[in-house]
Amino acid sequence: MFTPLNYSSMARILVTGGTGYIGSHTVVELMQKGYDVTIVDNLSNSSIDVLDGITEIVGHKPEFANIDCCNFMDLDNVFRQFTDIVGVIHFAASKAVGESVEKPLMYYRNNIGSLVTLLEVMKLHQVPNIVFSSSCTVYGQPDNDHLPVDETAPIQKALSPYGNTKQINEEIICDEAHADKGLHATILRYFNPIGAHPSALIGELPNGVPQNLLPFITQTAAGLRPELKVFGNDYNTPDGSCIRDYIYVVDLAKAHVKAIDRMLEVKDRDQVEVFNLGTGTGLSVLTLINEFEAATGLKLPYTIVGRREGDIEQVWAAPKKANEVLGWKADTPIRDVLASAWKWEKHIRKL
Ligand code: UD1
Repeated sequence: MFTPLNYSSMARILVTGGTGYIGSHTVVELMQKGYDVTIVDNLSNSSIDVLDGITEIVGHKPEFANIDCCNFMDLDNVFRQFTDIVGVIHFAASKAVGESVEKPLMYYRNNIGSLVTLLEVMKLHQVPNIVFSSSCTVYGQPDNDHLPVDETAPIQKALSPYGNTKQINEEIICDEAHADKGLHATILRYFNPIGAHPSALIGELPNGVPQNLLPFITQTAAGLRPELKVFGNDYNTPDGSCIRDYIYVVDLAKAHVKAIDRMLEVKDRDQVEVFNLGTGTGLSVLTLINEFEAATGLKLPYTIVGRREGDIEQVWAAPKKANEVLGWKADTPIRDVLASAWKWEKHIRKL
């Protein structure tokens, strides 16, 4: 258990979606840095037990409100109760690409409605700072001139309603910041977050059959799935499988603390800042499998199957701006990251 030696409150941060995967890791990092945290989450895709994991790691409990961010009155009540909120990190959103294709209205209502409501309530209570969870999905498949991808790469038409909500929300933030010079925003575009807290007390809890690669790998290693299906080995990449920038969720969480620190401390920053959060290294699916086997000593059963519709061939980040401006770097070795994911899978399966 980590207990800060010199705990003293710096300021309160509201974290929407704070019991979710990236949210919970960010809450831990914020609290360990000395921030007070209030989580709002409707537990639609997370468990109340996550609060126990956070409390055990940090040594004290975050405040928690079980509410939906689309509900103006409930959100308003939270801001009335916690008058010391100085900034908001907005994670709360639906995030399954396939589901968004089947239920677009649900995605537009949840993801866009929650941001609009949050910005309205922040304005009412004169809370000036928001950090928004966005995604590298806004870049689509960058052309070769834009690989690795920096923040100046063109935004491409979204391939799914989920991706579209990220693009629209970025635009909503920019429009509102243009109209209200008191609003400051940091937009963080994540590459592929993986892994779990080293304590294995919090981690990713996928709903049903995992769609993302790493939870599928760890569930296969745990015997829940007979084999991993590798979606395609005929791409224009060195080994034919797709390339992504896999970033450790704890490194990603730390970037949020840096973003909040900067918003509170640096006055001459742009009103809206955008950062790509990745490692700067692309890894293929087959390389990731090899690294997982090396990190765990396990043999992972897999077969090559056809391409997954809508998949991007290769994308990885140019994280220079985040490295230099935020003073942050994702540098946890990939084998440590993969070992943390396996430790978490063993913990939840009681292996
Ligand atoms: C997916 C989403 C993206 C979202 C991102 C973040 C799609 C098309 N894109 O991206 O919008 O922002 O997650 O979570 O769903 N793979 C396999 N076998 C599997 C699962 C995945 O081979 O069982 C491969 C995929 O083809 C891909 C790589 O692993 O090449 C990573 O897949 P995934 O974890 O789903 O992430 P993205 O495709 O980057």
